[in-house]
Amino acid sequence: MLALTVFLFSVFHALHAADSVPGPWIDYPADGTATMTHYTIPDGYIAACGCVGDSTKYPTAALSQMAYGSSTAYGPACGRCFKLTLLNTYTSDPPFFPNVVKSLVVKVTDLCPLSEAGWCSGRQNKTNPGGQYLNFDLAFPSRAIPDDFFPSNESFYGYKDFGVWNISYQTVPCLSNWAGAKNKAALGSVADLGDSVCCPANPTGSPNDTCPSFSDDNSIP
Ligand SMILES: *[C@@H]1O[C@H](CO)[C@@H](O)[C@H](O)[C@H]1NC(C)=O
Ligand SMILES: *[C@@H]1O[C@H](CO)[C@@H](O)[C@H](O)[C@H]1NC(C)=O
Ligand SMILES: *[C@@H]1O[C@H](CO)[C@@H](O)[C@H](O)[C@H]1NC(C)=O
Ligand SMILES: *[C@@H]1O[C@H](CO)[C@@H](O)[C@H](O)[C@H]1NC(C)=O
Repeated sequence: MLALTVFLFSVFHALHAADSVPGPWIDYPADGTATMTHYTIPDGYIAACGCVGDSTKYPTAALSQMAYGSSTAYGPACGRCFKLTLLNTYTSDPPFFPNVVKSLVVKVTDLCPLSEAGWCSGRQNKTNPGGQYLNFDLAFPSRAIPDDFFPSNESFYGYKDFGVWNISYQTVPCLSNWAGAKNKAALGSVADLGDSVCCPANPTGSPNDTCPSFSDDNSIP
């Protein structure tokens, strides 16, 4: 009887887990619009992709899980570089449109976990609260980015940090665009080292230079 109960309990759990599978990864275009938030990672920190610690000396970002392509460890987005351009804010009242165009090139080194309603909640069939499928979570403040990178109008809004931006993104080759490209140590020229890290210097999407999905490879939902 106990064995049967345990068996039924396991079946229930398996079905329940299948229910909550978040669906397919997002096959996002090379260029598009997204939201951008920011988060802090300690200097030298080795984030989800397993890129070398020196990557934190240059602009890096976490990408929302369903675009990142894995729920755990590394995914196909690891090491990819994107030029991100600030468009406007809209959680502020009124929305803020900066009178300067600010861009920066980031390397993806981290995973922004899927949530139900947060900025990294975008799925193939569902946008985040900003109406976007992708969110880039910028490592900021960072010694690689000027403190005044984000335009603001403190005298009008009463605060400087808008928190969330509407941005455009453009896929760019890391070697000719990312500030850390000349520092071999920061570039993380590391191919898939079995089950621990995967941080290619310049992933192109080809299987020979792009990370697989750790969670798919290990049947982790
Ligand atoms: C989106 O896809 C997931 C997984 O395939 C599914 O569970 C969910 O109901 C879908 N949501 C919408 C709004 O279609
Ligand atoms: C701040 O916003 C106010 C109201 O929109 C505007 O009049 C002012 O020029 C802005 N200042 C800056 C520095 O953008
Ligand atoms: C974000 O920018 C795009 C492109 O300008 C625009 O179409 C969209 O309405 C903006 N979204 C928000 C929430 O401001
Ligand atoms: C990786 O694949 C690309 C295209 O599929 C090819 O051009 C390139 O030579 C390959 N590189 C290596 C190191 O095999």
